[in-house]
Amino acid sequence: MQADVTGRLGSLEAIDNFEVDGLELGRRITYDVKANWKLIIENFMECYHCATIHPELTEVLPEFADGYAAQYFVGHGAAFGEEVSGFTVDGSAGFDTLSGVDSDQDRKYYAITVRPQVFVNLVPDHVILHRMFPLAADRTVVECDWLYSKDVVASGRDVSHSVELFHRVNQQDFDACERCQPAMSSRAYADGGVLVPSEHHIGEFHQWVQNVLSPDKDGE
Ligand SMILES: [Fe+2]
Repeated sequence: MQADVTGRLGSLEAIDNFEVDGLELGRRITYDVKANWKLIIENFMECYHCATIHPELTEVLPEFADGYAAQYFVGHGAAFGEEVSGFTVDGSAGFDTLSGVDSDQDRKYYAITVRPQVFVNLVPDHVILHRMFPLAADRTVVECDWLYSKDVVASGRDVSHSVELFHRVNQQDFDACERCQPAMSSRAYADGGVLVPSEHHIGEFHQWVQNVLSPDKDGE
């Protein structure tokens, strides 16, 4: 867990600022996805698809429209567009920035893949946590939690504008994974298929999976 966070954010302090353990559940949505869990991870780590299937997300994070994924470089967060007020489905204002979040992290989105099957998404006023439960080679249940400050949850404020943004992203991503699953069942993908240099972080994930499955084959 710690290596996954520091490898992505550069330091543990960067995630400690969000004080995730003090946040409370604002909304939980469960998705039953007809795709392998590793395919969902690959999708989460790359952004070639963002321009074509995530219209709401690319409005909020313009650099994603160029296929630029926030997980390429250590410490990089995707900046909100100039006209965007908050991480919401229509760019409208969200809630107060979490108290520990520093100015460098404000108005940015950070994504972390915690192996084997957790995603952490950090934005200034909430945290989105995905947990995957593989049920079959081609089926994964994904539980997604939207976490807010105690004050926001206790006040009963409407969280639907921020939930709706990533709920749409989830639906768009999982639909894409389900469409890829039949072809990726091919033997040609037995070792993860072909990657290009900018997918080095996905290559590391492939290597990690292969090492876990066959530790004696390291380096082959
Ligand atoms: Fe996506």
